[in-house]
Amino acid sequence: MDANALNDVSGTMHDSYGRRLNYLRVSLTDACNLRCVYCMPEDIRFRPAAALLQDDEILTLIRVAASLGVDKVRLTGGEPTVRHGVVDLVREIVAIPGIARVVMTTNGVKLAEQAEALAAAGLAQANISLDSLDPAKFRRITRRGDLADVWRGIAAAEAAELLPIKLNCVVTRGFNDDEVVELARLSLANPWEIRFIELMPFGSVADFQQDQVVSSAETRRRIETALGPLEAVPGHNGHDPARPYRLPGARGRLGFISSVSEPFCEGCNRLRLTADGRLRLCLLRDDEADLLTPLRAGADFATLRRLMAEAAFRKPWGHRLEQHDIAKSREMSQIGG
Ligand code: 5AD
Ligand code: SF4
Repeated sequence: MDANALNDVSGTMHDSYGRRLNYLRVSLTDACNLRCVYCMPEDIRFRPAAALLQDDEILTLIRVAASLGVDKVRLTGGEPTVRHGVVDLVREIVAIPGIARVVMTTNGVKLAEQAEALAAAGLAQANISLDSLDPAKFRRITRRGDLADVWRGIAAAEAAELLPIKLNCVVTRGFNDDEVVELARLSLANPWEIRFIELMPFGSVADFQQDQVVSSAETRRRIETALGPLEAVPGHNGHDPARPYRLPGARGRLGFISSVSEPFCEGCNRLRLTADGRLRLCLLRDDEADLLTPLRAGADFATLRRLMAEAAFRKPWGHRLEQHDIAKSREMSQIGG
């Protein structure tokens, strides 16, 4: 296919549906210091370092993406903060011409140590997982985490101005669905966005997940029953999967990410780079393009650029969860959400 994805003189990438793709999520590693029940099996084996993109390879592929109009990069994992040299890597990504904003999604465990250095390197913002306010429940969900580390991480992220602080809560039946009201209350006194994420069936834990899914509608109903009606916040950015609401008088907001019950594929502007160098076209579909092999075979910039643009052009419209077509070729931790 000689995709006309490159036909735009301004050098921007589009898919065959006309969606402009200007946002790249980069998984820095599939490894993690936690083992969340909804994300990975307890006995997961991570990939050997040689199978992962090296720093210079990541930088090359982001430069290629930037030449195609990508201006926003989100670093994910696994857990991005466990990658060696992550601060230097952030600094180098921030310096790439065309990249206007570099942000991170993290479990927060290492932010107390790293937030200041990451911010000094140019990181702009952090999304931090917070699935429970109860240390015992937090431990049960993450299988090993210490909630106090995350609270220290959130404080450090705020002090380092990685703003706005967004806290991600994956609502999981029987684990934390009874805590959504208390989590929502955090938005009253804090200028944070608390985001309730519908559990997505995925990878080898898909069977477990299907029984624990709680719809955004149910979560919202629980919150409204306890705290009163939510106000819709106007001016929703159509590329943000979180639909924004506010508790009356609150400093912060709430967001609902309803990937399963209300897909937001129309506004999708993202591509994903996996830690092993595949361009993943949709989180919930297994279509990928291998960029690692041509990169290591010595492909030049123009070739990589053509491969990336052609793959992007093939981005599928959306997922098929309602047809029970579940992406199983990878774990969530290999893609980074
Ligand atoms: N469904 C929904 N969200 C998930 N995450 C990890 N696995 C799943 C899943 N199966 C979330 C994490 C984090 C983000 C990277 O993805 O909690 O917020
Ligand atoms: Fe690690 Fe995030 Fe997966 Fe939890 S959800 S195991 S913190 S990658």
